[in-house]
Amino acid sequence: MKIISVVGARPNFMKIAPFIKAINDYNQAFFPPNGGIEGGVQHLLVHTGQHYDIRMSQAFFEDLGIPEPDINLEVGSGTHAEQVGRTMIEFEKVLQQEKPDWVVVVGDVNATLACSVTAKKELVKVCHIEAGLRSGDMAMPEEINRLVTDRLADLLLIPDRISGDNLRKEGVLEEKIGFVGNIMIDTLEANRERAAALEILDIINSNIIQHSTFLIPDSHLTPLPPDPLIPLSLRRGGQGERSGYAVITLHRPSNVDREDVLVPLFRFLADEVASTMPLFWPVHPRAQKMMKQFGIWDEAMDNPNLVMLHPIGYLEMLRLNMEARILLTDSGGLQEECTVLGTPCLTMRWNTERPVTLREHGGASVLVGNNVERIKKEFLDTLKMPRNPVRPELWDGKTAERCLEKVLSFKF
Ligand code: UD1
Repeated sequence: MKIISVVGARPNFMKIAPFIKAINDYNQAFFPPNGGIEGGVQHLLVHTGQHYDIRMSQAFFEDLGIPEPDINLEVGSGTHAEQVGRTMIEFEKVLQQEKPDWVVVVGDVNATLACSVTAKKELVKVCHIEAGLRSGDMAMPEEINRLVTDRLADLLLIPDRISGDNLRKEGVLEEKIGFVGNIMIDTLEANRERAAALEILDIINSNIIQHSTFLIPDSHLTPLPPDPLIPLSLRRGGQGERSGYAVITLHRPSNVDREDVLVPLFRFLADEVASTMPLFWPVHPRAQKMMKQFGIWDEAMDNPNLVMLHPIGYLEMLRLNMEARILLTDSGGLQEECTVLGTPCLTMRWNTERPVTLREHGGASVLVGNNVERIKKEFLDTLKMPRNPVRPELWDGKTAERCLEKVLSFKF
């Protein structure tokens, strides 16, 4: 059997890493080299090239031990139509050349949509890992990607039971649905110990965005300079030597592209969160661009307790998450990781396609949208909460094996 799996953007990488490992383990167990048995799974990894920066892409391949992509379509940045169109044109050539039995797509980025459509038009079966998530928000590009991909896919592998209910309501046949759990958690469990060994101050020091007014040591081995740059409560003890910081990530167009949304959010973060405790902000390229455009970037860089970081690696983010007192984010993946790690999380969106991560379903996160008054209230309430790790059904670190088993045994 020949499988092509596809990645395009940062949140795909942690989902494909365990799937590739499952294929390698399967081949090793049943078709060992020189074992005399022909066969096994032939696998090709295609990177569409939507995310291309070292920090947004290559660093994750290195951290997670993902092999170099066999093919890079190099579609790069652009409008949605440009990214999807370029991906389809290039991926069609790959399919015609390679003639795979399956295309496996993950998540909800433009690569997921573009490669599913192209595969089906080339009569290649499609498996979607992380199927059935629905926010109901058609203004989210990811929702459109999910709907189209799930309408076309032959095998829909779901992370939780709510996603299965969503698919059944849309008329998806039961035989196409496989409840496998959350593949992101395979990656989290495989890397927990490595992440735990990282020093938080090293992470800050090696990713901080340098500003001309601060003198930051070049080497991450050198200690951080004295006040005011050092996040004080990292050193103060109190609630534990390292329990006193917050982390924020923002990248959704609905949060960062509008001045009337981003500037008030920034005021709250700078004036009320960063004044309470150090706030680490690994800043997405889109958010950085918009902060500069709205004239708040320099102020962010000048605030000693608001620590602006480059996009950080997988292990580094996991490490910061493990001990953050609170995490504020509009990322779906972080919501899930907070649930398993137990980090109190404010999800800066009005809806979520991942309801199992919400407190009312036993998770660690609460939807706060982007209204500052609401965020402020939840922020103060959430600070009083203890860490509360929970593990939704089948988020057990073994999802990738189940995914591969479903593909290999598919008979529809
Ligand atoms: C994409 C995904 C989103 C995912 C997010 C994670 C879609 C529709 N969206 O959004 O679901 O949560 O990735 O990051 O696929 N840029 C760089 N360097 C890069 C990549 C992008 O500077 O390596 C810049 C682009 O030029 C662009 C901006 O970042 O200005 C946004 O990139 P884009 O890939 O269009 O979408 P994301 O917002 O990252």
